[in-house]
Amino acid sequence: MKMPFYFLPVAFLACTTLSCVRTENKAESYEKKIDKLMAEMTLEEKIGQMSQIDPGMAGSPERLKEMVREGRCGSLLNFFGMEEVNEIQRIAMEESRMHIPLLIGRDVIHGYKTVFPIPLGMAATWNPDLVKKAFRISAVEASSMGIRWTFAPMIDITWDPRWGRIAEGCGEDPFLASALAAAMVEGIQGDSLNDPTALAACAKHFAGYGFAEAGRDYNTTYITEPVMRNVVLKPFKAAVDAGAQTIMTAFNDLNGVPATANEFLLKKVLNDEWNFQGMVVSDWGSVPEMINHGYCRDEKDAAAKAIRAGVDMEMATNTYSANIEQLLEEGVVTESMINDAVRDILRLKFRLGLFDNPYVRPEAQKVILDEAHLEHARQVAAQSAVLLKNSGQVLPLPAGIKSIAVIGPLADAPRDQLGTWCFDGDPSRSVTPLEALKNELGPGRVHYAAGLEYSRDKRTEGFAAALKAANRVEVIVFFAGEEWILSGEGQSRGEISLPGAQTELIRRLAATGKPLVMVVMAGRPLAIEEETRLADAVLYAWHGGTMAGPAIADLLTGKVSPSGKLPVTFVKGAGQIPFYYYRKNTGRPASDESWTPIDSIPVENPQSSLGYRSFHLDYGYTPLFPFGYGLSYTQFEYTNLELSGASIDRNGSLTVRATVENTGDRDAHEVVQLYVRDRVGSITRPVKELKGFQRILLKKGEKAVVEFTLGAADLAFFNGKETLVEPGEFDVWIGPDSSQGLHGEFIVQ
Ligand code: NOJ
Repeated sequence: MKMPFYFLPVAFLACTTLSCVRTENKAESYEKKIDKLMAEMTLEEKIGQMSQIDPGMAGSPERLKEMVREGRCGSLLNFFGMEEVNEIQRIAMEESRMHIPLLIGRDVIHGYKTVFPIPLGMAATWNPDLVKKAFRISAVEASSMGIRWTFAPMIDITWDPRWGRIAEGCGEDPFLASALAAAMVEGIQGDSLNDPTALAACAKHFAGYGFAEAGRDYNTTYITEPVMRNVVLKPFKAAVDAGAQTIMTAFNDLNGVPATANEFLLKKVLNDEWNFQGMVVSDWGSVPEMINHGYCRDEKDAAAKAIRAGVDMEMATNTYSANIEQLLEEGVVTESMINDAVRDILRLKFRLGLFDNPYVRPEAQKVILDEAHLEHARQVAAQSAVLLKNSGQVLPLPAGIKSIAVIGPLADAPRDQLGTWCFDGDPSRSVTPLEALKNELGPGRVHYAAGLEYSRDKRTEGFAAALKAANRVEVIVFFAGEEWILSGEGQSRGEISLPGAQTELIRRLAATGKPLVMVVMAGRPLAIEEETRLADAVLYAWHGGTMAGPAIADLLTGKVSPSGKLPVTFVKGAGQIPFYYYRKNTGRPASDESWTPIDSIPVENPQSSLGYRSFHLDYGYTPLFPFGYGLSYTQFEYTNLELSGASIDRNGSLTVRATVENTGDRDAHEVVQLYVRDRVGSITRPVKELKGFQRILLKKGEKAVVEFTLGAADLAFFNGKETLVEPGEFDVWIGPDSSQGLHGEFIVQ
């Protein structure tokens, strides 16, 4: 019998000796300062630090100031405006007894004033550096208004596009999401936390929230420990390793225990295993909601369970402030639990430099909507769009094109293109595709008729004008999609088709016989099988943010070649959910030969003719588009897969390389992907797992050798008992997406 060997994570020290010493000195002096403060603080003031207040809770602005003066509040959310922040900080610093600054938090999820594509769109760039810079820009803009803590990154893996919050995350894959989580944290926090432009990041929602049953937001989750550890927790670990200062607990109950009091998550994983040194905050109301979950008798019980599990700060409800004193008297919570929580909060305030300077300089705001920020937003939006189909090379539009019809409810929808979660985005600053195409091609060549006023519009009165415009032009560009309000928190859908009468309008436009380009601007991967069949080209552009219009125009006109790749599997219909590429093979996997489509089954055919394989009679077993998929205006050819050896041992690593050649006639980016399969495991293993990716630029005719290093440690997984690398045979692929690639194999000894 072959013996498994264990994976020992190796920590790489990312600091020079000198800077480590400095950091240690700083940390020591913070601890001393915290000791001093804590020695003087009353219990009420400690409880105040543990309370995050929404202005609405206070009742009036005056009462809020009073609470700050009395030390009854450690943090504010949804409180903004430079003058307002400076004044409330002044009260905290000068008029409260302990002179402790406030932590001002806000949801800056995909941009502040300069709005970037929704995070799912940013994930489609497969470009951590670009994403890091987007988050840096968001932090620079937000901090200029006094915000020093953001509730991002949202890194909930999900397999369910019905779930509205799929828009806010990085998709289905733990490897891609981990790379992006680290980039986002680094962007948010910058090089040094006490830089005035640094925000504390908050990895959320810890954990399992994306597995809400039926994709219905806030719903129950049941997740096995292998799925937790091999999938859900991976991006959180990456965020913690990247230095994320805070973690937010999730709304859901996980295997029967709400995340906000879940000791497996908060004590075992976060504290004991990861040694997390930051602060934990509840989600909005998630402490008292444990009563609804049926896990707590009343608010006192809820406060006790959250504190005992390790939730340092309560967001937007007051079960802590109302109950801690009594809980202490009764011995249900201990003084050291309270002290630990307060220490975590004060430490963060020291690290952010708030004690030295909690104020905002008016000149800081000059950065808002800076030209360079907008230019970056345009680049991110361009790299996030995924070309799903391009029959007959209908795209890019020919240089000399004389007329196009711009149709559809998302062509000129400034608020919708900003997507969910942009409290601060300004639709009047959005540049829509209609505006950008008019700028690019000249207004005379663009014939606009919306056809439908908004995405759910079912009225067909606008069809005639749309068809008239379509009949006069060379190419029709239809802007399909969803309004922003159809995705995001609380915005789950049971069906994930194009809403309203959009499909009907697409049918009529296709019937004109004119080349039809469909651009989809949505907050989730929609089921667009029929529409994809009807259109000649499909560009999936998500909700692309402030600069979505110019980015889409760049792509349609060929200034930029599409290079986005799907961060989620696209299903043919909601009935296929959950569908993710790293599924298990099953005992009866389907293959081309085994699928019998429902309409081809002869009447009264014997049951045995159907194949007894794992497929749906109506969908088959393949998705509409696989994870990692995305076309370009050029072609890339993959050849010469080489492995540095046939086997590796427990300390070993393998080099896997392939040649990628741009055989088309334009320069373009390609995202080269590396997948593996562990053929046999002590628990069944996925059919493929992403283990590496590189975004490369190849000029036309150019080729490059793309090389990946695969360490044995990268193959470790949790099997229900332990995390280990199991010896045996592995497949490896380098390719353009999860469904294809050059294949090789190796052995782990
Ligand atoms: C609830 C959401 O779940 C969370 O993501 C957000 O950060 C908080 N509300 C604060 O707005």
